Amino acid sequence: MKHGAKTRASSDPSSGAGKPRQIAQVAIKAKGLTKDYGSGENLVHALRGVDVEFEQGRFTVIMGPSGSGKSTLMHTLAGLDTVTSGHVYLNADAAGVKGRRTSRHGGRRGVVDLTKLNDNQLTLLRRQSLGFIFQSFNLLPMFTAKQNILMPLILDGAKPDTAWLDVLAKTLGLEERLSHRPSELSGGQQQRVAIARALITKPSIVFADEPTGNLDTASSTEVLSFLRDSVRELGQTIIMVTHDVFAASFADRALVFADGRIVADQDRPTMDSMNALLSEEVMASTATADSAAHR
Ligand SMILES: Nc1ncnc2c1ncn2[C@@H]1O[C@H](COP(=O)(O)OP(=O)(O)O)[C@@H](O)[C@H]1O
Ligand SMILES: [Mg+2]
Repeated sequence: MKHGAKTRASSDPSSGAGKPRQIAQVAIKAKGLTKDYGSGENLVHALRGVDVEFEQGRFTVIMGPSGSGKSTLMHTLAGLDTVTSGHVYLNADAAGVKGRRTSRHGGRRGVVDLTKLNDNQLTLLRRQSLGFIFQSFNLLPMFTAKQNILMPLILDGAKPDTAWLDVLAKTLGLEERLSHRPSELSGGQQQRVAIARALITKPSIVFADEPTGNLDTASSTEVLSFLRDSVRELGQTIIMVTHDVFAASFADRALVFADGRIVADQDRPTMDSMNALLSEEVMASTATADSAAHR
């Protein structure tokens, strides 16, 4: 089988029928992104000016301490939360967004500024091309696992792709659980249902907020390998928050977040390199956060 592992440099005209692959295209990027929550005494600067690009067909992890803004970045990139200032540009051509485009907002053809879209436009665009695996699953309690997984297709009026459902259920070990409701599933199983739901539409960009947080090592490894393979085989862009250096070692790139900013950006992370990088960051932040910690 064909492997896309080291084809970042340019499009490859021999890579099958249709359009040549355009590996180094930017799938989504944030420019000067800030996000404040609350006001007055309760004001929190969750994002303090983030500039970052994510290339299509790459698997990036985001690490960093709790409260550093990782989930906020994911939510604002995916258009699930508004921004305080800055822009989120989605490459709509690469993302396969159908219908009329609001390209003028981005200044370039095919580029959509998500911060300029209304709720309806965002909902449609998300359904077509973005998948989100939430930290807290967000499954619908009244529906079975299978119905939850197929929900994005049902909402979009699309025909359920049963072959793909079978692949997802098998890979995620859910074959025997499809008729169960969320309350009848363990945390790990609910997590895997949430993963299948995010992948059922084969979205061009997948956002995953600690998707292996509730899984044991064996299921984590399967899920991570599956995500990595889907980057290689479907050319998907994956952005995943994790606390786990083992999970990070599956990625092509790792960002480290601290206090609303990106403080490190590393290619081909390994467990050793991430452990070293994270302990450097902890050292640096304990020096500055020392006084705050005493409050
Ligand atoms: N809905 C919200 N309302 C108020 N503050 C929030 C909200 N969501 C996040 N925050 C705050 O923003 C900061 C960043 O949070 P978050 O993005 O969830 O961090 P992480 O995912 O890295 O743990 C934290 O200080 C958090 O308390
Ligand atoms: Mg979080």
